[in-house]
Amino acid sequence: MLLDLSDFLPRQSRPLRVKMDEFQREGRLKHLIFASQLELEHLNRLQRLADIIRQLSKTKKGSDALRSLLSHKRAMLYFTQPSTRTFLSFMAACQILGLTCNEVRDPATSSEMKRESPLDSIRMFSSYFDVIIMRSPEAGFSECCAYLMNDLESQEKRSVPIINAGSGSEEHPTQALLDVYTIQRTFQFDSTAGTTGNRLAELNKKYSGLTTGLSNKTYLFCGDLGRGRTVRSLATTLTNYRNIRMFFVSPNHEKLRLDSALRKRLEVANVEFHEFDSLDATLQGQDILSLTDCLYMTRIQIEHNTSADTAALNEMDLSPFHLSPTRLEKLREYAPILHPFPRDSVVQEIPTIIDADPRAMYFRQARNGMWARAALLVHMFNVADQLLFLHNDFYGN
Ligand code: ASP
Ligand code: CP
Repeated sequence: MLLDLSDFLPRQSRPLRVKMDEFQREGRLKHLIFASQLELEHLNRLQRLADIIRQLSKTKKGSDALRSLLSHKRAMLYFTQPSTRTFLSFMAACQILGLTCNEVRDPATSSEMKRESPLDSIRMFSSYFDVIIMRSPEAGFSECCAYLMNDLESQEKRSVPIINAGSGSEEHPTQALLDVYTIQRTFQFDSTAGTTGNRLAELNKKYSGLTTGLSNKTYLFCGDLGRGRTVRSLATTLTNYRNIRMFFVSPNHEKLRLDSALRKRLEVANVEFHEFDSLDATLQGQDILSLTDCLYMTRIQIEHNTSADTAALNEMDLSPFHLSPTRLEKLREYAPILHPFPRDSVVQEIPTIIDADPRAMYFRQARNGMWARAALLVHMFNVADQLLFLHNDFYGN
């Protein structure tokens, strides 16, 4: 019987916590579809793997060894929505680990033009490849593909892992992974340590109670919060950490404000959050920027606009959602500035003059995507032990 995406609707409409088990295998991620799958244990494990891959990649011997890890595997990159970083960093991650990859980026070049269904396409990819990494404009499509693979597996047919590399305006779990990895590395406070050593001790004189790691921090998200999938995925992932607070700054437009699903998720997770309509807003008399430990900027997702949205946004003053050198002065001196990118070159929510600021982390963040995604592949293909063995062989414990 020919399957249709709507056949999966009953499974899709179940609560997340019910579905989650179907995307795991023996404590590992079998498919990665939702950011909610990323639990603290996974995050810690993946960060450690990413650090090891990064370190081994520094030498030719290490790189050669890494390339042998998955040289027997093939990856399919199925990206039917524009991408620079996610596509290229996944491809680079595959190359680091020796996987060969192929791509379909334009369905017009595939047999979908001959009315092949997207689900048939996916099943065909699974015949030739060992993992499907996919980005789609359609929310829920990667989830349906994971169900398709699970059904095939239960019929003892060939089935491969599905990785969601961005679905509609809904989810971008691998971006959350690299964002958390970047924040974790930044809050080690050691990369800028001088000869006298401890930067954290220095900072603690001014910001008492500052700790390493992602817990005990205030995160400020700014921009298109309603339609930005990276915001939804990262905010969800951050709920794994203790004693965090979130500030959400967005234009006062129903589609751009924090959506009710994320609001509910944060309430359930007992996260303190506040919503504002400007980066200049204050909380109990203090500038929100001066209370922020990590700033996450995003662009307005104009590709989702209807003509009415465009008209409404054209009427609005969006400058309160742009970072300026004056606003930067209020931001804590250690607070990393993240942006999933692309930034809007016309609007310039982060002007290029800010790139030289030591807190500007977005280019590093994009590069971290390569290490984080390589770590994810190592985890999903269950070769973490081999990687640790390699590392031990090169560097000892
Ligand atoms: N590149 C990210 C995404 O695909 C963020 C963005 O496009 O604004 O979701
Ligand atoms: N951050 C991100 O997903 O970038 P791309 O859309 O270029 O892949």
